[in-house]
Amino acid sequence: MTATVIDGKAFAANVRSQVAEHVAVLKADHGITPGLAVVLVGEDPASQVYVRSKGKQTVEVGMNSFEHKLDADTSEADLLALIDQLNKDPAVHGILVQLPLPGHLNSDLVINSIDPAKDVDGFHISNVGLLGTGQKSMVPCTPLGCLMMLRDHHGSLSGMNAVVLGRSNIVGKPMAQLLLGDSCTVTIAHSRTKDLPDVVRGADIVVAAVGRPQMVPGDWIKPGATVIDVGINRIDAPEKGEGKTRLVGDVDYDSCAAVAGAITPVPGGVGPMTIACLLANTLTACCRANGLAEPEGLTA
Ligand code: GUN
Repeated sequence: MTATVIDGKAFAANVRSQVAEHVAVLKADHGITPGLAVVLVGEDPASQVYVRSKGKQTVEVGMNSFEHKLDADTSEADLLALIDQLNKDPAVHGILVQLPLPGHLNSDLVINSIDPAKDVDGFHISNVGLLGTGQKSMVPCTPLGCLMMLRDHHGSLSGMNAVVLGRSNIVGKPMAQLLLGDSCTVTIAHSRTKDLPDVVRGADIVVAAVGRPQMVPGDWIKPGATVIDVGINRIDAPEKGEGKTRLVGDVDYDSCAAVAGAITPVPGGVGPMTIACLLANTLTACCRANGLAEPEGLTA
């Protein structure tokens, strides 16, 4: 079998155009423009790239983008004061504090100071608890993007065996909660899991989010299974020339694609969905804040 390639780039473009349509209606019918505030502390180059990309895409869908760039030595008190100001600002519907934060700042404290209704990352402890108890919440963007693609491909996920590789708070744990919410039988596997290949071989859905390049070979994949690769790893690519690199996922694409029923590529799979879902979450937060119906198909 050769797997269907799930085109995350096209899927994300479709999500963004749906968000843009809703934003246009909010503006025209209600005089409301959704606003997303992104806070970046320090000069981490990868974070700067992400933040620029978020700001650009926010404006492209017609939303207001508020960027706050703070020095790497900003005090916790100053950062908390900014978040308090953003929590109170009615023009701001979503707040994202870019992670990782410099070491002297307590990430948990900072994230939990965001108004949960504006926590478009879904990292606030209230949103984690709401998701875990099956209540309406803000859902972390990357797992939400994975769920959207899985629902689109399969329709119902009910009764499917899902294995999530990785137990991070940002991807693995919320992904497992979302799959459970869609009535999958869910296993969270991690570095201490025994007989990992056999565990993965039982899965109709594999979500790989471990951050280890090409860790999952094709002979771990059940024929016809759906493979969602969250990994983005840069490896040496001497075949492209000396000193060259390339991006690969957490699964070995070629061998997995030969066995799977469907697979997301890297790049161009899950990656583009993360920012698209951030915009969808900002729209959702804006609709909730204004007592308006939530956009269909853009939430969990
Ligand atoms: N850093 C890398 N990914 C993310 C993300 O999804 N949200 C935040 N806040 N920081 C990140």
